[in-house]
Amino acid sequence: MKPFHHADGVLHAEAVALPRIAEAVGTPAYVYSAAALRSAARRFRAALADIPRKHIAFAVKANPNPAVLDVLAREGFGADIVSGGELVAALDGGILPEEIVFSGTGKTQAELMQALDVGIGQFNLELEAEGRLLSRLAVERGTRVAAVLRVNPDVDARTHAKITTGRAESKFGVPMAEAAAIYDRLAALDGLDMRGIALHIGSQITDLAPLEDAYRRAGELLATLRTGGHRVTHVDLGGGLGVSYRSGEPDADVEVYGAMVARVTQGWNVTLMFEPGRFIAAHAGVLLTAVTWVKPGSAHPFIVVDAAMNDLMRPALYDAWHAFSAVEPSGRRIVADIVGPVCETGDTFARAREIDDVKAGDLCVFHTVGAYGATMASTYNGRSLVPEVLVDGDSATVIAERLDAHAIARQRSGRRRIACARSPVLHAS
Ligand code: LLP
Repeated sequence: MKPFHHADGVLHAEAVALPRIAEAVGTPAYVYSAAALRSAARRFRAALADIPRKHIAFAVKANPNPAVLDVLAREGFGADIVSGGELVAALDGGILPEEIVFSGTGKTQAELMQALDVGIGQFNLELEAEGRLLSRLAVERGTRVAAVLRVNPDVDARTHAKITTGRAESKFGVPMAEAAAIYDRLAALDGLDMRGIALHIGSQITDLAPLEDAYRRAGELLATLRTGGHRVTHVDLGGGLGVSYRSGEPDADVEVYGAMVARVTQGWNVTLMFEPGRFIAAHAGVLLTAVTWVKPGSAHPFIVVDAAMNDLMRPALYDAWHAFSAVEPSGRRIVADIVGPVCETGDTFARAREIDDVKAGDLCVFHTVGAYGATMASTYNGRSLVPEVLVDGDSATVIAERLDAHAIARQRSGRRRIACARSPVLHAS
């Protein structure tokens, strides 16, 4: 049975009818299926069955809710984090420190220290200076930490421009041409156990050719480093596998991906690391919303829902398509624009879309929002932070409460004077 399916004409998450959740927590609300998370996690791992040594770290940015991370931790997943906040989320989710990989272009000294103190498994260095700082901090603590160097393979992932990361002009990693020299210098530093390389070329990738191209380039660098006398034991292949947002279209073929990885990396003799986010979580979530108004429009009606661009940013940010359906479809179809209440034209989820006919008060869902959904939400327009519910079989648990935007604003609004005159901070060199 699909995790989100109709029973007696009503959309369910596993065994729980979505109207029950709307009654209990209101709308909008994210609803996740634990079974869907588990099945994607198992499918990903099974596709890599031919890889002898591997470490799979869920990209926490896709869905940092600790209850979601807990489901994945029980599936043997580690975590790929990019901030001190995600580190705390991963630990709260029960992921062991040694299973945590710290990626990210701008890790601050405070974040490096936080991760060192926790004892995470690996740092993915994005630039030489970061490695030098990490070396110094590790030496100060009398410890030695595992690190890999992120390289920029200069391949075009052929995905949305805003989520491509492996082109030469992008901010991520060090240029391939300089990687060996930088690696030599980092490997000579105390406190760092340089053990390999990392790459990640982008997200929502469905064409595997750019990934294969990037992995081959990593293989060439691996050979160069070994010729240079380095003991390379780990290669982090990043994340990026895409999913289908439209019914009838397939997800990236994870089995073909697994076979490609096995083929390209044959003979590498390393532990391969993976950082999937979207592939694991996207299909495991829907955004439950109610229709506020059906407003006549010039060509077709506007369906004004109570979710908005602040709750689900992907359509406004990337023109992303998310399927939309009624929780209790009548069988009639209409063509409409689906919009939220925020005062921006960009607060449009779909234009001229054929959808279920709905009226004010009806419950609906946006599909495939378990990744990069709630995590990107904001309180723009004085809106509350959207709650999250995890369904597992016939149980439903609120795993993030709705946070009232005004309460947050009030908490932040106390006035605090900053001492500016001859401040030592301002005059420090
Ligand atoms: N590893 C690194 C270093 C990353 O930067 C990312 C995603 C991942 C792994 C996971 O990629 P995935 O397997 O999920 O494709 N907000 C955008 C996606 C941004 C992805 C950023 N990095 C969206 O909603 O499409």
